[in-house]
Order: sequence, then structure tokens, then C-alpha cells
Amino acid sequence: MDFRQMIAQRVWQAAQDAYGESALTAADYGALLELPPDPAMGDYALPCFKLAKSLRKPPVAIAEALAARVSAEGFERVEAVKGYLNFYLDRAEYARAVVEAVLAANGRYGASDAGRGKTIVIDYSSINIAKRFHIGHLSTTMLGNALYRMYKYAGYTCVGVNHLGDWGTQFGKMIAAYKRWGNHEEVEAGGIAELTKLYVRFDEEAQKDPALAEEGRAWFKAIEDGNEEALSIFNWFKELTLKDAARVYDMLGVTFDSYAGESFYNDKMQPIVEELREKGLLVESDGAQIVDLSAYDMPPAIILRSDGATLYVTRDLAAAQYRHDTYHFEKCLYVVAYQQDLHFKQLFKVLELMGRDWAKDMVHISYGMVSYEGQAMATRKGHVVYLEDLLNLAVEKALSIINEKNPGLENKEAIARQIGVGAVIFFDLYNNRIKDIDFYWDRALNFDGETAPYVMYTHARCASVLRKAGAEADAAPDYAALSDADAQNVVRLLEQFPGLLGEALERGEPSMITRYSVDLAQAFNKFYYEQRILDDDGAVRAARLNLTRAAKSTIATALDLIGISAPERM
Ligand code: ARG
Repeated sequence: MDFRQMIAQRVWQAAQDAYGESALTAADYGALLELPPDPAMGDYALPCFKLAKSLRKPPVAIAEALAARVSAEGFERVEAVKGYLNFYLDRAEYARAVVEAVLAANGRYGASDAGRGKTIVIDYSSINIAKRFHIGHLSTTMLGNALYRMYKYAGYTCVGVNHLGDWGTQFGKMIAAYKRWGNHEEVEAGGIAELTKLYVRFDEEAQKDPALAEEGRAWFKAIEDGNEEALSIFNWFKELTLKDAARVYDMLGVTFDSYAGESFYNDKMQPIVEELREKGLLVESDGAQIVDLSAYDMPPAIILRSDGATLYVTRDLAAAQYRHDTYHFEKCLYVVAYQQDLHFKQLFKVLELMGRDWAKDMVHISYGMVSYEGQAMATRKGHVVYLEDLLNLAVEKALSIINEKNPGLENKEAIARQIGVGAVIFFDLYNNRIKDIDFYWDRALNFDGETAPYVMYTHARCASVLRKAGAEADAAPDYAALSDADAQNVVRLLEQFPGLLGEALERGEPSMITRYSVDLAQAFNKFYYEQRILDDDGAVRAARLNLTRAAKSTIATALDLIGISAPERM
């Protein structure tokens, strides 16, 4: 089905016939082929002005010479127009090739083995211990999960890392507070909420009683020194947090291969610090050890505080080295909000200064903030939207919509879950990741908008048409029945899917797939309204049913790649 390659081959041949040998390969021609914005200008077009230099002829003459010589077999026509060589594929042949390619892929259309033998490490979600999962961590979780799925689909081995925020002086304070006022049963039952209460109380009372701060520091030191009691309390806090997060991950269908977080690197930073020192990269500044980055217009990276304590970037240096040594990655992605743009620039720069040639393979996948119904998240002001609450509310709202629209639906709860959770994920992944997101219920759950419910509904509609068609074997399809503009629009979108996946990966932009799913759903719906799928003519019906199957399967694949499952009925 690779029309680009086929056309490239033929153009190359025609160019040889017209101008003899040249340095241009078929692949060079293939890379030049464009998809005209308007199908009236052909399915593929070769802009000949880009050849004028190599072939030393004016574009118009090139287009005409090639048009006269290129093989038009299987094409409706090939035309030279104003320096462009336009290819019009034979409509029936085009539809046949595309639809059959989708069906032959058996649910894995667009999958490839381009990444065979290569590993991608993806650092995403990376939540903080003793904090409840709030919507500020939604994008990293879903973007990372989508990238994981997309890379896997392209044949890569993926390692999903939840780089837990499990290191810091606050944990010493939390233990101190727990030792003073805490109670095992209460914390066990109340979980993070209880820990937060203790922490808040600690901060309040520490203002009156300076002895508390000292206790906090002592407990932190105890964690650092591997004191058994400190570690066991801390690990218990960690467990409570992960148990809480597991419910959310479970709803979202997100998993990880590693939970090695900041504390995992406690014993792995020394060699990095040593090396920085040996290479003369470490300088003292106000007692701290820093890497001066002023030559790169950046503030210094602080490696050791004046008391010798390590910092976030120190841990990230050790983590990068560890990931490189352990996974031998092709790329290491960090899906982290743009507030940390500078941190990653510094991190990558320090690695480069240390002479790591793989520093260029580290990528910060930056993204914008999420606010909720017009309100920015502000932990201190108490404007916190917990992800679990948001998801539960989404499911509840989806259920009430089902009860209103289709009360007799079987398995309502499970489907409401698919719709509700899917709507949240879809909304999150709909725009370019760098844009800030404002979450509104009426926009996320609108069945007519550019939403998960709309795309899911189209998928269920395809399923319903196919059920109606029955299990009876189709006649041999007559793909000429897909020559109309509506069917051709669906075919064209299907054809573009594999290329789009490649581009979405290259840009680290799952939103391209989200948007594509809307385009495909819209095109299919137009086809559905304008054309009779269950036509009396068996051959026509068979072709339209195959297009329906191909559309259904590609919608499901697109949603699946961004981490959403589509119901068969709704
Ligand atoms: N825990 C951090 C946060 O919530 C994100 C960590 C990202 N990963 C990393 N290797 N720095 O902001």
C-alpha cells in the first residue's frame, strides 16, 4: 500500500528516461512528494521546482517531461500542472489497497518494527511521596503513557519509570510529627490525608517550638543514615502513597516498569560528584559546590549544598547515568511540566560537559499547566483537585448521561467508566502539550464536540452497523463503490495514519493522534449519513462494510495508543 514508494520509483524511472543518470535516488523523489491540501490537485504531488537545480531544467519543463514518460498504470491520471506533477490514484484501486491493508493488519494497522533492538526510557508521572495524586500530575501521566504505547507500537522496547519524589527534609519532619502526635491505626486508615494533617500541624507548632525543627532534622538524618526505625516509618509512608496512587493508575490503565525514585540514588551520586571535581567542573560558591553555567546563559547547577547535602539535579545526574548503564537507551524522555525547563537544560548541559555523548539523547517532553473550571491549582490556597475525585465524578456524570440517553444499555457501569475516564484522558491529550489546559466538564463530556464520547460513539456506531450486517459472509467487494468523495475522505485519512504515527513520535506529540481520531470519526460519520452502507447490491455493501471495519479498527487503534479503550456499544 505504500503509494509514496511506488510513485517515487516510477518518477525515478521517468527521470532516468528523460534525463539519463542523476545523483537522485527513488527515495529522494519520495521525500519530495507532497499530499495536496485539496484532493482536486491529486492524491500526491511532486513539486518540480525542487528538482530544477539538480536536473538543470525549468520546473514546468520537468513536470511535462516526467508526465509524458511516467507509468500511469493503476492511476486515474497523472498530470503536469504549473510545475507540479499531480498523481490521481484510481479511486477503486486506492480504496482497495488502503482498506485491505488496514484489514490485513488485524488490529495493528500502522504498527512497525522500526524500533527493534532499541530501548526508550520514559520518566513520567513521577509523583511525590505523602502527597495525594492531583490533576497537576495528570498530563505527565497520560502523555508518558501515550508515548510509551506509541513507541511500543513502533517496535521499541520501553522502560516506564516513575521517578518517585521520595527524598527531602520534609520526610524527617513528617516522621517527627508522627512520633509526637501520630497513631498507627489513624494513619493506616486515613492514609495521605492523615499524613498531611500531621505535617501541617508540625509546621504550625514548629513556629512556636524551635525544638521541633531540630527533631525533624534529626529524623531526616536518621533516614539518611539508614536508621532502622526511620526507614521503616518512611517506607510505610511510601507504601500508603503508592497504595493511594495505585487506585488512580488502575482507573487510568497506567503501569510502570520501575519505581526507582530519588532515594534510589542515595548511594549512586558519589562517583558523579567525584568525576565533576576531577574534571574541574565543580567550583565553590558561598560554601556550596556548583557547576558554573554562565557561559551558556544559565544559572549554576547546585550539586552540593554548603552542608554537603545533595540536590534534585545531583540525583538526576546519577539517575541519568544509571539509566544509561542499565538500559542502554536510544533516548531517555522526561515528561515534566515546563516549570522545570531550566532544570533539564542544566541537567543535559552538565552531562554534556562531563563528556557524555549520549546527552544529546535526553529529551525533555515539556507540557503546560492544568486548571479546573477556570481555577488554577494552588495547593496553599486549597484549590486542589484530586485526580481520583475528578475521575469518579467523570464516571458518575457519564453514567447519568447514559441513563438519560440509553437507559437499557447492558453493562452500564463498565461503559460509564470507559467514557468518563476516556473523556478526561482525551481532554488532556487534545491540544499541543505545551499549551495550558483548562478543564471544563461541558467540553470534556460533550457528545457532539471534539471529545472522547464523540469518537467513542462513532466507534460504537461502526460496531452497530457491523452487527446489523450479521455474520453472513460478504460478497466479493466492489471497491468502485467507494469512489464517492465521502468514502474517499475516509480512505485518505486511513492511508495517512501510519505516517502520522511516525510524525507524532518524532515530535513527542500524542495530541496529533487525538485530533486524528476526531477527523476520522467526522469523516466516517459523513460517509455514514450520505451513503447507504447496507446496500442491496452485495458487492457494494461488502465494500462499504469493509470500509466500516477499517474505520472502526483504526479509531480503536488511535484511542488505544493514547490510552483509551473504546466501547462496542454505548
Ligand atoms: N517529582 C517531580 C515533580 O513532581 C518530577 C520528577 C521528574 N523526573 C525527574 N527525573 N526529575 O515535580
